[in-house]
Amino acid sequence: MSRLSRIAWLCAAMAAVLAAPTMLQAEDQCVACHVELDDELAAPVEQFKTDVHSAAGLGCADCHGGDPTSDDPDESMDPKKGFHGKLDPLDVPKYCARCHSDAMYMKQYNPGLPIDQYDKYRSSVHGERNAKGDKKVAQCASCHVPHDMKPANDPTSGVYALNIPGTCARCHADEEYMAPYGIRSDQYARYEASVHGQALLVEHDLGAPACNDCHGNHAASPPMVGSIPNVCGNCHAFNADLFAQSPHRAAFKEQDIPACETCHGVHDITMLGTENLGDGDQSICLDCHSADDGTRGIATAVAMQGHLTRLEDGYHHADSLLAVAERKGMFVEEARYNLKDVRQQTIQAHTLVHSFDDSVVQTKVDSGMLVLAGVTEAAHEKLAESAFRRWGLLISTLIISFVAILLYLKIRQLES
Ligand code: HEC
Ligand code: HEC
Ligand code: HEC
Ligand code: HEC
Ligand code: HEC
Ligand code: HEC
Ligand code: HEC
Ligand code: HEC
Ligand code: HEC
Repeated sequence: MSRLSRIAWLCAAMAAVLAAPTMLQAEDQCVACHVELDDELAAPVEQFKTDVHSAAGLGCADCHGGDPTSDDPDESMDPKKGFHGKLDPLDVPKYCARCHSDAMYMKQYNPGLPIDQYDKYRSSVHGERNAKGDKKVAQCASCHVPHDMKPANDPTSGVYALNIPGTCARCHADEEYMAPYGIRSDQYARYEASVHGQALLVEHDLGAPACNDCHGNHAASPPMVGSIPNVCGNCHAFNADLFAQSPHRAAFKEQDIPACETCHGVHDITMLGTENLGDGDQSICLDCHSADDGTRGIATAVAMQGHLTRLEDGYHHADSLLAVAERKGMFVEEARYNLKDVRQQTIQAHTLVHSFDDSVVQTKVDSGMLVLAGVTEAAHEKLAESAFRRWGLLISTLIISFVAILLYLKIRQLES
């Protein structure tokens, strides 16, 4: 190192030492002190490192107030400087809304982020009760974990689709906690066992609804009876459209019967099948109808069951015929392709049950049966062709063997 560069290095080092106090001042004193404290007081510092607010450049004082430049606890945590320590659950929504309902402020960070959380929250059962002084209902920090807040699409967030049922269950599955409110606490248990719960929690199918898809993110209220088909219709649009045009719509509305829920349940939705039509033990139509109630209810149920069974049976018959042909080494690609088309029509036919009109189901079933007839015929042709080939093979083998024996005898004769 030359003498000149040695001097330069020394100057740089001295400058750094001189600058140190000002750098220290710019550091967040809340963090600097809290990191040295006991668990509960230090934990937020560690957690906060990956919090979305930290990523946006915000610090402790942005939520808790106080003076983050002072290392004197009395001064930095002075209520006169707006400091509030443990936030009261009744005050939290207002604190969050200071920023989150301020369009001008939020626009600087993320113009695409909605700013309606507070208003929606206030219109929910949670928000209404919170405003009346109930500290047990969910407020912002119940669903968004303090110091560990993340956007909803972050898999570690408490409001990520797969984690939401667990977040709600913390209170709603706690029987003792919910007891004073007189509402049931089995929504999670039922949901977990339902087609939706299985699809989301077990198969991680993000298209299946979590609690918030039916209850809203911030407007958590039970959907009103009249809005249930809309809630389900967000995803099962065709079922909802059919129901809306069916005789049940007006009848259910008149008697205040919830639409989809009556037959399917809400949190415990399981798969219904063709066995639930008709007039047998498992028929759900019998819940309200009887054969002699003067409506076409049961007649329709029986007819729809007949049509759907015909199509399913036809499908399985054709499918097994094709399987036999395949095992005999025949190529049945075209017939397989057509059978796939019938599968599609079968699925549609089951959905058409929601027209509660057997002629609608019949039309679809008939069109499926027509394709099935073609598939069955093709399968029979392939099987006949296979039999023909076998016979042909047998006869030609016999002829060849016969000629070979003749040839052998002839050669023997010539040799002797
Ligand atoms: C020099 C150390 C020091 C500094 C600086 C400091 N704190 Fe604290 N803080 C403490 C101690 C010690 C406690 C626990 C004793 C108490 O409640 O006063 C505490 C408690 C808290 C609590 C919990 C209060 C409660 O009621 O449970 C919060 C929140 C908090 N500090 C936030 C902040 C914020 C925000 C800043 C910066 C503006 C800050 N602190 C600066 C030492 C400090
Ligand atoms: C986005 C807002 C927000 C920010 C930023 C924030 N806090 Fe908090 N903090 C809260 C809320 C809300 C509570 C109340 C939690 C509760 O009631 O369960 C809280 C509670 C606390 C408590 C009380 C102990 C506890 O866990 O209940 C401490 C201590 C604390 N915060 C420290 C900090 C420190 C240190 C920072 C900076 C590293 C910080 N907070 C940043 C919102 C925030
Ligand atoms: C009952 C639980 C719950 C409560 C209470 C709650 N949130 Fe949310 N929050 C959610 C869920 C769930 C999502 C988003 C999920 C998604 O988009 O898939 C969300 C999303 C957000 C987002 C991301 C933008 C958006 O709107 O989707 C912000 C910001 C937010 N909440 C702030 C708040 C604030 C502020 C409060 C209090 C006024 C609050 N939340 C109360 C559950 C809650
Ligand atoms: C000082 C202003 C401020 C306060 C107070 C505040 N936030 Fe935020 N919040 C922000 C900013 C800025 C972002 C970052 C937006 C971005 O970059 O996406 C953010 C982001 C979020 C997000 C992630 C949104 C997303 O999907 O990207 C959630 C959730 C959230 N805040 C919830 C809360 C809750 C709950 C409270 C109250 C306990 C709160 N915030 C208090 C300013 C604030
Ligand atoms: C901090 C605890 C807590 C959390 C977390 C919570 N809730 Fe609640 N919730 C309550 C309490 C308490 C009530 C009040 C019950 C009442 O008044 O009927 C309530 C009420 C409701 C209601 C209205 C029930 C009725 O018929 O009055 C719905 C719907 C609801 N919550 C859905 C949700 C959903 C969905 C989530 C998750 C995204 C959630 N809650 C998270 C505590 C919580
Ligand atoms: C497929 C849509 C759907 C999903 C998913 C769903 N709910 Fe519901 N929930 C409803 C409907 C509809 C009602 C209204 C029931 C009624 O009025 O008969 C309801 C009612 C409620 C109620 C009021 C009390 C009651 O049982 O009637 C609470 C609390 C509730 N749900 C919480 C939850 C929680 C927690 C989850 C997630 C574990 C969840 N819900 C998932 C549709 C749904
Ligand atoms: C957010 C979208 C969404 C909402 C809202 C929704 N579902 Fe579903 N539902 C699904 C998905 C995805 C499946 C497929 C699950 C699977 O079979 O893997 C499903 C499956 C079903 C099934 C079983 C069908 C089958 O083929 O296995 C029934 C019945 C059902 N839902 C009824 C309802 C009812 C009733 C409502 C309203 C109370 C509703 N769904 C709300 C997405 C939704
Ligand atoms: C009167 C009883 C009844 C009502 C009301 C009803 N369903 Fe169904 N639903 C059934 C029956 C029965 C089946 C089984 C049909 C079959 O497989 O043959 C079924 C099957 C389903 C399936 C699985 C088959 C498919 O279409 O993928 C879904 C999804 C479904 N219903 C959604 C809904 C929705 C959404 C509503 C409200 C708009 C609703 N259902 C209203 C009786 C009903
Ligand atoms: C929750 C009760 C309830 C269930 C379950 C129910 N229905 Fe109905 N249904 C009604 C009511 C109420 C009417 C209107 C009766 C009237 O017009 O007098 C009706 C009307 C009908 C009609 C029109 C009748 C006519 O003569 O105009 C048909 C068809 C029908 N239902 C079929 C079915 C089938 C099929 C099922 C089973 C999948 C079923 N219903 C399940 C309550 C129900």
